[in-house]
Formats: sequence, structure tokens, C-alpha cells
Amino acid sequence: MNIILMGPPGAGKGTQAKKLVEEYGLYQISTGDLFRKALKEKTKFGVIASYFIQFGHLVPDEYTVEMVREFLKENIDSFKNGFILDGFPRTIIQARELESIAKEFGFDIDAVINIDVPSEKLIKRLSGRRTCKDCGTTYHVVFNPPKTEGVCDKCGGELYQRPDESEEAVQVRLDTYEKQTRPLIDYYTMKGELTNVNGDQSMDAVYADIKKNLEAK
Ligand code: AP5
Repeated sequence: MNIILMGPPGAGKGTQAKKLVEEYGLYQISTGDLFRKALKEKTKFGVIASYFIQFGHLVPDEYTVEMVREFLKENIDSFKNGFILDGFPRTIIQARELESIAKEFGFDIDAVINIDVPSEKLIKRLSGRRTCKDCGTTYHVVFNPPKTEGVCDKCGGELYQRPDESEEAVQVRLDTYEKQTRPLIDYYTMKGELTNVNGDQSMDAVYADIKKNLEAK
């Protein structure tokens, strides 16, 4: 199955994608992670993306689509169990481009899941998030703390707070979501493809709802 996982910043897309990867062997394609990796490696996409990410803006569509297209082209053979698009598409233009990429590479999108969380909860989730420098596992200081403060349970790596988690950047990310990404909910609803999942419950309960929806498909 190929799945689009949508939702505002901090909705739990990454958290739920990792659970789907573990249970179903799907491949997680997170554009945020791809940009952060490119940034670390100082590739073309990293240099372009650094300014936009730091201040909480979307990276322009042309570069984002080009990066996704290149990534899919190079890795398409690894997706035998299917993939989860985490954080892509984020604009109507990206959604349309994804449709042409799907035609070109011969795959379908089987489910579009939107994780719905009230905006007042998102700031709390983002400000408490900690991410492992080595394996990328995410935690939350209150909702999902690691066993030892500052240390990843899985690999022992150091936990850090992302630079785009400053109060100002988070506010820009939430505003950007409202203006540029929320319209995608209507886009996929009109196409009859969208499933809404209540993200304002425990991580396990959110996962159970996602699973139920995917298994019904
Ligand atoms: P990206 O990395 O995709 O960030 P995001 O969409 O803002 O999403 P997050 O990773 O912040 O949140 P999430 O929904 O994955 O939540 P998580 O599971 O971590 O993008 C970063 C930047 O890259 C963008 O701002 C943009 O600049 C650029 N970019 C990326 N894609 C792009 C695109 N397509 N086009 C243009 N630019 C692009 O959970 C958050 C926290 O909450 C964690 O601490 C977690 O433990 C906790 N949590 C999760 N679920 C629950 C729950 N049910 N209850 C309580 N706590 C929970």
C-alpha cells in the first residue's frame, strides 16, 4: 500500500509513520527528513532548504518536487511493500505533481490519511519534542519520555531539539500550514480519497484508528 500521511506540524505524522514501518515494512519517505539529511550533507537541496526550514517556511514547490522525484527514481525498487509519504504533498501544486510522478513511475496512492489535532495542542507537542541525533527517533518530554533524559532508548544517541522548534518558527509553521497545506484537505475530500483520524488521543489509540482504516481498504 502507498499512503499519504497528512496533518499539521506536530500532529504525529512521524510517530505514526514509524509504527507503520515497524508493523508492515512500509518505507517512510519524510520530506522533512530528506531536507535535514541534505542540509547535513550540504547538497544542493540542503543549501536551498536551510533558509526556509530555519524560519518555518515551506521550501518552494519546484525544489521539493524535484527532490521527491529524484528520491523515488533512485529508490523505487526498495518499495516492494509500499511507502508512506510523510509531509508530502503540502500544497495543491505538489499534489498535482505527485499525480504526474505516480503516472510516470506506475504506482497508485491507496490511502490519504489526515491526522487531525486542534492547533492549541500542537505548540505543546512541538516544544516538548526531542529527536535522536543518530537514528531520528522522536520523543516527548511529557507524553513519550525516553527512559534516561537526553538519551535515545533505541540506540543510545543524544537527543536534541530541532532548530525550527523555536517559538517564532513554530508559529510561522502553523500559519503556513493554515494557508498552504490545509486546502489539501478539501482537495482530497472532493476526490473522495481522504480519511480523517482523530489525533487528539493517545499515540496507541491514533495508531489503532489508522490501522482500522487501512485494513478496511
Ligand atoms: P517536517 O519535518 O515534515 O515537519 P512537520 O510537518 O512540521 O512535522 P513534524 O515533524 O514537526 O511533526 P509530526 O507531525 O511528524 O509530529 P511528530 O510525530 O514528530 O518538515 C520540516 C520543514 O521541512 C518544513 O517546515 C518545511 O520547511 C520543510 N518541508 C518538509 N516537507 C516539505 C514539503 N512537502 N514542501 C515544502 N517544504 C517542506 O510528533 C510531534 C511531538 O508530539 C513528538 O514529541 C511526539 O512524541 C508527540 N506526539 C505524537 N503523537 C502524540 C499523541 N497522540 N499524543 C501526545 N503526544 C504526541
